[in-house]
Amino acid sequence: MSNDSIFIRACKRLATERTPIWIMRQAGRYLPEYRAIREKTDFLTLCKTPELAAEVTVQPVDIIGVDAAILFSDILVIPEALGMKLEIVESRGPTFDNPVRSLDDLNRLNTDGLLKRLKYVFEAITVTKERLAGRVPLIGFAGAPWTLATYMVEGKGTRNFDVVKALCYNQPRVAHELLQKLSDAVIEYLNAKIRAGCDAVQIFDTWAGVLSPSDLDEFSLRYISYICDRLETNGAPVIVFAKGVSDTAKLANLKCDVLGVDWTKDIRVAKSQAGEKAVQGNLDPCVLFASKEKIREETERILEAYGGEAGHIFNLGHGILPNTPPENAKYLVDCVKELSIKYHERAASQ
Ligand code: CP3
Repeated sequence: MSNDSIFIRACKRLATERTPIWIMRQAGRYLPEYRAIREKTDFLTLCKTPELAAEVTVQPVDIIGVDAAILFSDILVIPEALGMKLEIVESRGPTFDNPVRSLDDLNRLNTDGLLKRLKYVFEAITVTKERLAGRVPLIGFAGAPWTLATYMVEGKGTRNFDVVKALCYNQPRVAHELLQKLSDAVIEYLNAKIRAGCDAVQIFDTWAGVLSPSDLDEFSLRYISYICDRLETNGAPVIVFAKGVSDTAKLANLKCDVLGVDWTKDIRVAKSQAGEKAVQGNLDPCVLFASKEKIREETERILEAYGGEAGHIFNLGHGILPNTPPENAKYLVDCVKELSIKYHERAASQ
């Protein structure tokens, strides 16, 4: 049963015989098996074809041996389902040709029947669960309102976030209405994913770290907190990954089970600030470009820093990069499986 899996147990801070591992963006271009499918299918068609989405979701479970699957999709399917025209072009990243910059733009976003337009996601969950057959649990995800808003307002990926921040400062009502609309959409979406069979959910706030402390509270955390308070989890753990938030203690009061941390943070400090929550992370994705010896050494460093207590889910500190050698990703998984046992044995005997 996937609910007894070591991933779910670790999320709930229950004892496990070793540390579980999965990798953010584990289904993707670094895998030749993924690229073979993408050669024949554009990205959005892949997301919208349940059989294919299920196939690429299961790939990293079979190929590198991770302890959880994450449903193949994208955070930007929500803005797309709200009526924005999404294009994902290789090497340019995602773009929207009609960004949200005014109340009129905002009012054009259509929340009625949102879940119907995202039906393909729930179908993909059903097919994926069948294919996984209880081997590992399935994680569902959504973007946090702030991160979704950055793409919707800028119209593309951005370095400086000047357009979206200018909207926050100059038209705060529009910004807040947008963030509120997105929060309600994310709640509806994640609750439906859990009902459809996801065993855990993760909220990605990839761009939380570009905000000042007070803006972080006002434009990001307030909405993540609103979402967490309204999830109907039915026991499914909730993971919040707010990248670049240096003060993990700011997240400790959220109604969630796990805090994701990036690699700039000492996991020992994150653990002490996380209070009652489990911690997920936090190897620098670039370590996977180093030698096997270095990968092993850095893995050991993180395992040792967290120690054998319950509540660590190994992961990278952000998504795996497209040029990563797949054998290094597999080696990382093998290292975590092998090296973590001793810490858990030690903790169990104390
Ligand atoms: O983790 C997984 O394996 C599930 C798949 C997943 C994708 N996107 C697939 C994808 C997940 C969890 C995401 C989340 C996502 N998407 C985030 C938050 C997490 C993060 O990594 O920061 C963000 C900010 C996006 C927006 C997005 N989608 C960007 C910036 C890009 C382009 C960047 C790139 O890698 O090209 C995408 C496209 C995208 N989403 C791809 C994949 C595999 C690449 C598309 C392709 O196959 O060409």
